Amino acid sequence: MSLLNRRYACKKFKKDQSVKDEELLQILKAGRLAPSSFGMEPWKMLVVDNDKIKSELYPYAWGFHNSFNGNTRLVIILNRINMNYDDPYVMHIMKDVQGLDQDMIKPRLDRFKKFQSEDFNLLDNNRYLSDWTGKQSYIALAFMMMMAAALDIDSCPIEGFNKEKVIEVLVSNKLIDTDHYTVSVMVSFGHKDEDIRPKKRQLISSVVDWIR
Ligand SMILES: Cc1cc2nc3c(=O)[nH]c(=O)nc-3n(C[C@H](O)[C@H](O)[C@H](O)COP(=O)(O)O)c2cc1C
Repeated sequence: MSLLNRRYACKKFKKDQSVKDEELLQILKAGRLAPSSFGMEPWKMLVVDNDKIKSELYPYAWGFHNSFNGNTRLVIILNRINMNYDDPYVMHIMKDVQGLDQDMIKPRLDRFKKFQSEDFNLLDNNRYLSDWTGKQSYIALAFMMMMAAALDIDSCPIEGFNKEKVIEVLVSNKLIDTDHYTVSVMVSFGHKDEDIRPKKRQLISSVVDWIR
């Protein structure tokens, strides 16, 4: 529990202390270990260390201003689009990452197809598919923020940005392949220059129904 209370959305970061590369790598590795539907890992993390690109993002990312004012490392999480059951990426994950042989791939792919087309009705609209992969990328976001808290590093999740404009900046810098990815969410990591804010949450009884 203490770790869950340790993590909070930091609004003021120190200017004179940064997150080291090896710490950031630990955080990124935690994101990589996040669970995903059928193990498809439908994300990519962009570590933006480049000040010019950060400045270009600034006008379109109001939720990032507090982080920009301190010494933070910015990660933009992308999520896959068009990840239909017949996309070559799906086969790549099953074969090359999960090491499945043809006998195992066939039933798994059938199940994946049924899941996408019937159970979750994801194939009627491209937006459904990309919202589904986007949801999963937030699990990676949570894993990364919790890993940061474990390392005594502060973080701020960032949805305060104009998605279209941020994509434009990434495209103009050749940082995103828009045939396969869109922008999901951002997160900054640094060291707090303020007290941890105590949690304000609804009562557990307001958010949980026990069905016995
Ligand atoms: C998906 C998401 C997007 C958020 N976007 C921003 C943001 O753009 N800027 C910001 O300062 N805080 C942002 N927050 C932080 C929330 O305001 C904060 O998590 C919430 O108030 C609960 O406080 P806590 O995280 O300190 O417990 C975001 C949080 C989440 C989960």
